[in-house]
Amino acid sequence: MLVSSEIIPALGLFLGLTTATYTLQDDYGTNQTFFSKFDFFTSPDPTHGYVEYVDRATAQSAGLISASSGSVYLGVDTSNVASSPGRQSVRLTSKKAYNHGLVILDLEHMPGSVCGSWPAFWMIGTVPPTAGEIDIIEGISDYTTNEVTLHTNEDGCSIQNSGFSGSLDTSECYIYTKSDGSGGCGIIDPSKQSYGDGFNAAGGGVFATEWTSDGVHVWRFSNSSIPADISSGRPNPSTWGTPVASFAGNCDFDAQFNNLHIVFDITFCGDWAGSEWSSDSCTSKAPTCQDFVQNHPKAFTESYWRVRSLKVYTNDRSTKRSAGTNTIPKVRRRGGHKYGM
Ligand SMILES: *[C@@H]1O[C@H](CO)[C@@H](O)[C@H](O)[C@H]1NC(C)=O
Ligand SMILES: *[C@@H]1O[C@H](CO)[C@@H](O)[C@H](O)[C@H]1NC(C)=O
Repeated sequence: MLVSSEIIPALGLFLGLTTATYTLQDDYGTNQTFFSKFDFFTSPDPTHGYVEYVDRATAQSAGLISASSGSVYLGVDTSNVASSPGRQSVRLTSKKAYNHGLVILDLEHMPGSVCGSWPAFWMIGTVPPTAGEIDIIEGISDYTTNEVTLHTNEDGCSIQNSGFSGSLDTSECYIYTKSDGSGGCGIIDPSKQSYGDGFNAAGGGVFATEWTSDGVHVWRFSNSSIPADISSGRPNPSTWGTPVASFAGNCDFDAQFNNLHIVFDITFCGDWAGSEWSSDSCTSKAPTCQDFVQNHPKAFTESYWRVRSLKVYTNDRSTKRSAGTNTIPKVRRRGGHKYGM
């Protein structure tokens, strides 16, 4: 009797813990294995940036990528005046596609708040009929705050203005709520530790993205406040409090988001950073965005990702029901990194 009264509560606690906790599905690591889990995108930038995305061998020999002492580096050319098609950079697309899950990115550094740059960490469906896009980290030029944005290829997805601590920018997720295909639902993280120089000054931090049938929820933690359950590899989002961004409401997430790949990139100018050049403070630096990016390699020394870890977790609740059918959009601008591996 004594024995069982001790064992049963312990067993209950154990079972409760395991059902609430995500289990590790993929650890991208911090050595060369990281790069072999991604394809290097080398086509022209679908968002028309002044950039040349190079392959793995070129990136390696030019020092644009490296893996050492517990972190992975992804950067851009900071030595040379650029020539057409633009400044050398990398765009990595995970070979694996996901349906639901918990994506935890621990960064020591993200691209800084540099005029002309347009970095993003995001997820996208690439092959018809898969679809949808989740932009987890994105900004341009000297922006100081992050905006999380979802894009859908079909109408009928709008999010409610509750359940998150950030501020709602737009609630309609369909790309063609704007005629140029740049529509999306967005939530701004008002903290200056959420993006660029401010994030880096705080020692980096963690972006945790939970994707279920009910929606997409993003938490950001600065380096000094990363939850212990993340550090220990037993993440439990239910203990993290209110997410900074939460996309839920009138939307069939399982129909709109399918087979998403994880992407890192840094582009320049193009449809967003280029088109806003004349309207922001960067304009005093050069007459055009391309002029600045082409001729000032040293301006981009802060334009790099340093990844401490990238892990994808799964749990029972994230098992997905059958996917819907979507069509692929033709062109998108802001956040519209578009399809194609
Ligand atoms: C590289 O990292 C992976 C993933 O963490 C690990 O399994 C592998 O053993 C590492 N390889 C080397 C050579 O350290
Ligand atoms: C991040 O936090 C850890 C633990 O608190 C600390 O040891 C480390 O120095 C910090 N990193 C940076 C880059 O500030």
